[in-house]
Amino acid sequence: MKNKGILFTLLLSIVLALAACGTSSEKANGDGEGKKKLRVVTDAAYAPFEYMDKDKIIGFDVDVFTAAAEEAGYEFEIVNVGWDPVFAELENGTADVGLSAITINDDRLKSYDFSIPYFESTNKILAPEGTDIEKAADLVDKTVAVQAGTTGADAVDALLGNANEKVKKFENNNLAILEMKNKGADAVVADNAVLETYAKDNPQDNFTVIEDKEGFESEFYGFMFPKDSEIVDDLSKGLNAILDNGKYAEIYKEWFGQDPDIENLKAQQ
Ligand code: ARG
Repeated sequence: MKNKGILFTLLLSIVLALAACGTSSEKANGDGEGKKKLRVVTDAAYAPFEYMDKDKIIGFDVDVFTAAAEEAGYEFEIVNVGWDPVFAELENGTADVGLSAITINDDRLKSYDFSIPYFESTNKILAPEGTDIEKAADLVDKTVAVQAGTTGADAVDALLGNANEKVKKFENNNLAILEMKNKGADAVVADNAVLETYAKDNPQDNFTVIEDKEGFESEFYGFMFPKDSEIVDDLSKGLNAILDNGKYAEIYKEWFGQDPDIENLKAQQ
């Protein structure tokens, strides 16, 4: 009889232990703080930062976020929702993080929070080889395709004037490039690494990339969050950890074939 009691207690504790394991998926990495699984939204049409490889979202941003989130002890899922919905989801609180080569700027800081910067970028011009475009100012009498709602679109609006019909705005950057391919535009303005990757991967298109350091500002990407999100510091700390421990440099080298300027990035914090 006594033995049965012990056996029962033993079984009960095993059942309880298993039940506890069952709920651990809600506690990311079992650190006991009850961190929720993050919904990370992106526009996966922006190689090499985020793009579709068959049905998988891959890219530099994905690797950097994965490493930073791991340091910070968060589980997450990345969902390809498109550019405008990234902002809408953060605004109405259905997503926790926007991961989309998003430039940190004053306008966005009014409505969103950002992590520390993780990448330096600038706009450049993609145009057919043999173009007479040499600098940003040469775009004034051209037809220019851009992704709507980006800093590239802002830069072109500033040059050609708001609501100028020669600025053609698209839902994603690939559609803007396609428009030029179909001769519907003389140039595309977007982030340098994206245009350089496209030109390199599509030599048959005969596009060239034009730089104008005076015409376009230097920009920095951050992870974007709803205003007053409580996870900003955790993810910034995760980012700093991978900037310090060599993981960021490893990822950067994998995607860009060179070493990052980590000091320059850190100087922006
Ligand atoms: N860096 C630019 C911006 O923030 C363009 C980003 C576009 N990103 C994307 N995944 N389509 O406006």
